[in-house]
Amino acid sequence: MKKLGFIGMGNMGRAIASGLVKGGAIAAEDVYAYAPHWDKLSDYCAPLGIHACHSAAEVVENCDAVLLAVKPYVIEGAIAEIRDLLSGKAVISIALGYDLDRLRPLLPDTARVQFIMPNTPAMVGAGVLLFQQESTLEADERAELMGKFAALGEVIELPGHLMGIGGAVSGCGPAFCAMVIEALSDAGVKYGLPRATAYRLASQTLAGTGRMQLETNQHPGAIKDGVCSPGGTTIRGVEALERAGLRAAMLDAVQAVMEKKV
Ligand SMILES: NC(=O)c1ccc[n+]([C@@H]2O[C@H](COP(=O)([O-])OP(=O)(O)OC[C@H]3O[C@@H](n4cnc5c(N)ncnc54)[C@H](OP(=O)(O)O)[C@@H]3O)[C@@H](O)[C@H]2O)c1
Repeated sequence: MKKLGFIGMGNMGRAIASGLVKGGAIAAEDVYAYAPHWDKLSDYCAPLGIHACHSAAEVVENCDAVLLAVKPYVIEGAIAEIRDLLSGKAVISIALGYDLDRLRPLLPDTARVQFIMPNTPAMVGAGVLLFQQESTLEADERAELMGKFAALGEVIELPGHLMGIGGAVSGCGPAFCAMVIEALSDAGVKYGLPRATAYRLASQTLAGTGRMQLETNQHPGAIKDGVCSPGGTTIRGVEALERAGLRAAMLDAVQAVMEKKV
C-alpha cells in the first residue's frame, strides 16, 4: 500500500492521518483527503503536508487504499458517488456498524475490504485499533496495514461478532473514562485543589493505573486491594463507590450502547 486516501477528514480521519504521518508510518505526500468543506479541509491538510482534494473521485484516482472516515449515515451516499472507481482498491471502513458483511454489497466485487474500529486516544498514539479478523485484503497488505496502524496505538484483532462489544468498550470507553476523570477532579476541587492540578492528578492516575495493569497483568481487583489497607481510608471510598453502584453503572452504560442499533 503506497498511497492512502481519506474520504472524510473529521475528528477520526484527522487523528488517523496525523498519527500515521507524524509516527512515520506513511509519508505526507502519499496521503490524499477529501471532505465537503474546502476551507476546513485545506486548513487541516496544509500544515500536515497532505494533499487536499476537491472531490472524492480525485482521492480514489490517486490512491491504492481508501479509508472511509465519514459518519455512518453518510457512508452509503459517499460510496455511491465513487463506487466504480473503487474497483481493485483496498477499502478500509472505520464507520460504526459498517463491517465486512455490510460493506461488501455496497462495493465492486474486486474491492478488498477491512473494517477497523479506532478510538480517540489514537490522536496521541495511545489508541486501540480493533481490526476485524474477517477481511478480504491480501494477507501481506493486511499485515502492512496493521504495522502502519501500530503507530496509533495497540492493534488488536477481533472476530466480526465481537467488533460491536469491542467498539463499545474501547470506542465509547474514552467518554466514560473522561467522565471519571472529570468527577474525580471535581472532588479534588471541592476540597481545594486548583482545577488544572485536579485534572492532572486524575488523568495521570487513570493513565498510570491502566499502564500498571497492562505491564504487570495484575487483576484489577488486586490493584485496588494494593491501595486499601485494613481499616484504612481508601477502603471507605471503595465502599462509597460500591454503594453508589459504580460497577452496575458501567455495565448499564455498555448495555445502553449495545442496544442502540446503527
Ligand atoms: N469519533 C470517535 O470516537 C470514533 C471512534 C470510532 C469510529 N468512529 C467512526 O469514524 C467515522 C467518522 O467519525 P468522526 O467523529 O471523525 O466524524 P466527524 O468529525 O463528523 O467527521 C466526518 C467527516 O466526514 C466529512 N463528510 C461529510 N459528508 C461527506 C461526504 N458526503 N463525502 C465525504 N466526506 C463527507 C465531513 O466533512 P465536513 O466537515 O467538511 O462536513 C468530516 O470531515 C464515523 O463513521 C464513526 O462511526 C469514530
